[in-house]
Amino acid sequence: MLSTETYTQRRLQLKEAMGSGLILFLGHDESPMNYLDNPYPFRQDTSFLYYFGIDSPGLAGLIDVDGDAVSLFGDDATLDEIVWTGPQRTLAEQGARVGVAECHPLSKLEEIVGEGTDSGRIVHFLPPSRAEIILKTEKLLRIPSSDVAQCASKELIRAVVEQRVVKSDEEIAEIEKALSIAADMHTLAMRMSRPGMKEQEIVGAIDGLVSSQGSALAFPIIFSKHGEVLHNHKHVNTLEEGDLVILDAGANSLTHYASDITRTFPIGLPFDDRQQQIYETVLEAQMDAIEAVAPETRFEDIHLLACRRLTEGLQKMGLMKGDVEASVEAGAHALFFPHGLGHMMGLDVHDMEGLSEDLVGYGDEAERNPQFGRRSLRLARALKPGFVVTIEPGLYFIPDLIDQWREAGQHSDFIAYENLDAWKDFGGVRIEDDVLVTEDGYRVLGEPIPKAIEDVEMLTTT
Ligand code: GLY
Ligand code: MN
Ligand code: MN
Repeated sequence: MLSTETYTQRRLQLKEAMGSGLILFLGHDESPMNYLDNPYPFRQDTSFLYYFGIDSPGLAGLIDVDGDAVSLFGDDATLDEIVWTGPQRTLAEQGARVGVAECHPLSKLEEIVGEGTDSGRIVHFLPPSRAEIILKTEKLLRIPSSDVAQCASKELIRAVVEQRVVKSDEEIAEIEKALSIAADMHTLAMRMSRPGMKEQEIVGAIDGLVSSQGSALAFPIIFSKHGEVLHNHKHVNTLEEGDLVILDAGANSLTHYASDITRTFPIGLPFDDRQQQIYETVLEAQMDAIEAVAPETRFEDIHLLACRRLTEGLQKMGLMKGDVEASVEAGAHALFFPHGLGHMMGLDVHDMEGLSEDLVGYGDEAERNPQFGRRSLRLARALKPGFVVTIEPGLYFIPDLIDQWREAGQHSDFIAYENLDAWKDFGGVRIEDDVLVTEDGYRVLGEPIPKAIEDVEMLTTT
């Protein structure tokens, strides 16, 4: 938990940004795997966590913008429950830790919200990510569940996004704690991955390391010699000498701030010639993109810079051809780089995308380009000091995509299909770091995690 003052200030700032009405935050409940006593690990609703900080189920928060009041709703554990869970803090104790004095049993929520709606007050709420919260909202606000998402308050979404998108020093320190765990995860994987091992052995060891630090994964681990499958969550392959693997993995700090790091490394041998060429191209694109991070620079322009660098590298390898600008404009590089350069990061690894990917990443100043590749760019807007973004270019050889494009003759002015056959089994390379936008540029967050070829090989081959 952060300081009491932090949560008080956050609520105050939000209240000031909103005109009037009530603001309702429904915290998450336990989520059953199959029956309620066998739940998934608890994960609090992120916006509830941001404004109310309490990391336990069954709570709600209400901010009365006009009446200058904040209240918390929840039920104290009964003795029957304590027999199973051990002693629990009372709601009043939890409220005091986050600066809320007015605490009520959950049954009061319906009454107080009902009084508000009956007297014509607006009840602002955020779009819920979970079905049970949609149903609760339906019951509380008498909105059909199918309409809940579209009835979420646009004014509140905008205010929350603009507040959460700028990270304080306290938040940056949390992200750096998460990055310190990520550094351990990645160096362990590089040291441990050897020919003959199964991917799942490495994944299990990384997962164990995270648990042993009292932490949790920020998202499911991507670890695969089939790096061309962008979000590959299967870990069934056996590693063989000369394979190239992608590890995209991060952890949460104890207050749930995320880290999101990708490294790519060879198994049992140094990078071979082809691997080295692709890797160096991605690394140069990544470093140039990081170098371009600065206030007022549009992230879409940094994405396009990375696309140009990747295209230039592929041209040197004889895999692409033609005018680089025209090629990027046409979207030809998306055969090899079909995703965006990065996204916001914070309490969620793709920060606030549950509220609105477009508002977070595009705001009012940019429109999503529908072109293949460009449409997967989650972040385009101009950067501001305090934003934390990922920079994660990659190059992939996706056999189905190559075959389909070649058959259709797609971008044949820019793609040297005749040279691609030899590369179809290559897999992929991605390199990702987390970067803070500062007043005068950028800072790559966390301690450095090896990414220069010689530094990676030091860990993978000795
Ligand atoms: N870890 C998923 C991503 O990099 O966006
Ligand atoms: Mn990632
Ligand atoms: Mn990422």
